[in-house]
Amino acid sequence: MKNIVLVGFMGSGKTWVGKLIAERTGMPLLDMDSIIVERAGKSINEIFADEGEAHFRKLERELVQELAQTEGNIISTGGGIVLNPDNIADFEKTGLVVCLLVDAESVLDRVRNDDTRPLLAGDKEKAIVELLESRKPLYEAVTHKINTSGRPFPPVQTAEEVIAL
Ligand code: S3P
Repeated sequence: MKNIVLVGFMGSGKTWVGKLIAERTGMPLLDMDSIIVERAGKSINEIFADEGEAHFRKLERELVQELAQTEGNIISTGGGIVLNPDNIADFEKTGLVVCLLVDAESVLDRVRNDDTRPLLAGDKEKAIVELLESRKPLYEAVTHKINTSGRPFPPVQTAEEVIAL
């Protein structure tokens, strides 16, 4: 069976929706950030601070190459996975790639009290607006898209839409 690969900006709901799909389908959920953290023995913040973003992207790329060879998993990716088009191309070979779209206001609402994301350190609103704007074409380019903007976030409905796809 194909993998289900969830992509989308930080706070788009990839992990939450992934958990709900896992509950409903019985498929295992693989969370890329969690795997990277576990293997590195340090947090995402520490990886960025100690080795830099380029090193994190290298770890991410290697993990994509590994996971794209598996099957039957739900894979929750990090928001920056779209920065390298090879990542999406590799996942598409063995999986259904679904992008969860979200607007800046909803992201800010969801990550306001979260300090685990190094790219949002400092002025969160500014970082979200700028990053989202620069990545928008990359998220829009994914074939299957579901909008998760809004409050409250509709995780169950989103999970069901992914399963229907
Ligand atoms: C990142 C998103 C994060 C994490 C890292 C970089 C990004 O994952 O991989 O902080 O570049 O958008 P989430 O999307 O799960 O927050």
